[in-house]
Amino acid sequence: MNPAMHVERLRARLLGKQGAASAGDDAPAARAVAPKVTVGREHYDFAQFPELREYANTRWYYDKQGYEWNMFREHVGVASAEVEVAGRRMINFSSYNYLDLSGDPRVQSAAKQAIDHYGTSTGSGRIIIGEIPIFGEFEKELADVLGVEDAVLGVSGYGTNVAAIGYLARKQDLVLYDELVHNSMLVGAKLSGARRFAFAHNDCDALERLLAEHRGNFERVLILTEGVFSMDGDIPDIPRLIEIKKRHHALLMVDEAHSMGVIGARGLGVVDHFGLNGADIDIHYASMSKAFATIGGYIAGRRELVTMLKYYAPGLGLYIASPMPANAAAGLAALRIMRAEPQRARRVVENARYFREQARQAGLNTGLSEGSAVIPVMLPDAELALWMAARLFDNHIFTFPMIFPVVPRDAARLRFFINTAHTREQMDRTIRLLVELKAAAPASKGLF
Ligand SMILES: Cc1ncc(COP(=O)(O)O)c(C=O)c1O
Repeated sequence: MNPAMHVERLRARLLGKQGAASAGDDAPAARAVAPKVTVGREHYDFAQFPELREYANTRWYYDKQGYEWNMFREHVGVASAEVEVAGRRMINFSSYNYLDLSGDPRVQSAAKQAIDHYGTSTGSGRIIIGEIPIFGEFEKELADVLGVEDAVLGVSGYGTNVAAIGYLARKQDLVLYDELVHNSMLVGAKLSGARRFAFAHNDCDALERLLAEHRGNFERVLILTEGVFSMDGDIPDIPRLIEIKKRHHALLMVDEAHSMGVIGARGLGVVDHFGLNGADIDIHYASMSKAFATIGGYIAGRRELVTMLKYYAPGLGLYIASPMPANAAAGLAALRIMRAEPQRARRVVENARYFREQARQAGLNTGLSEGSAVIPVMLPDAELALWMAARLFDNHIFTFPMIFPVVPRDAARLRFFINTAHTREQMDRTIRLLVELKAAAPASKGLF
């Protein structure tokens, strides 16, 4: 059949004039199907949704214990090593602002200038007419720092993980992820439709076993890990992961939300820390809301990877407006300061080493944390974590209890983010208080 005839046939079919069965007279009559679900109010009335019951129980518990509600707590001014909450100046261990750059006049002025030049938005997706030079400058400088060909900046940290993984993995692919990777990686993997298996935390042998058993059944295999784990503060063996992924022809993605800007002699993340060739990590990712003191996310790697993501990945290149000029400008200014002032990163790591050592000597359990600026203080249960956080708050120290569902039920903790600006006095005072509180803690009642 010649092409013109083929198109004619196709068109006729689509218009229902010929060939294809149309739902006409011979279509079977619709049969009544017994409903599978008894539709109750909990299916259409938000007030009856079980998720809300979870919230109501939590509030009930706080009220019963006489705790101030500590969620969505407003602060005034810049959140750094200290923060003002409810008119009180507090030592702050709950902000991601590792390098103390979100109040840095150079970063703030870059953001203000970007607004003066471009307004508060670019008014479009990057691919259409939303591109501005700041995005490309950031991406080029970042790629240089990481030793890779190119990078792409996305609107949100969470969304960039979801979009990149959701786009790169497909039904015929396999995603192998460390059991402790961030929720945004898990959601991306779920969205992709790929087969997914978790491997035990930092257990390269378990990963090897999964690869030996399953590699041959899938096309692409994506291995997901973090540079510093966000709840535990440990650093995985990235060189070994590189060796494994090369042998199995898999792709390695590292989430550097908590390692970029912090670990390594120059503070430039896992590449710097391990002395790696940047090209050996296939997909570099970080959120911009930590050391970069802004908001957004990036992917960096080979030019082809970045081209595909920029042109086709929904939520990163496509179907989404560009990042805010001010955010990108703040990120670029922060990146330049990171490079020019590596002592900031060294001070964070040194502060964290001090905190961890003092805490351990005082008998506190800092879990797996090593070499990073994330330090958990592990506690036997969620009730104790809530009680300790409330008492610390009374003593002008802000730290947030990490309880289920963000950590397993039996792994409640207080999480401390160490900042380059924390002083030894602030850390000493905090550890002293933690020890006193732990000794005075009431027995948990099993209510939460
Ligand atoms: C490891 C990790 N990845 C990704 C994200 C998402 O980044 P953002 O909160 O900036 O969207 C976070 C945020 O907390 C994180 O800790």
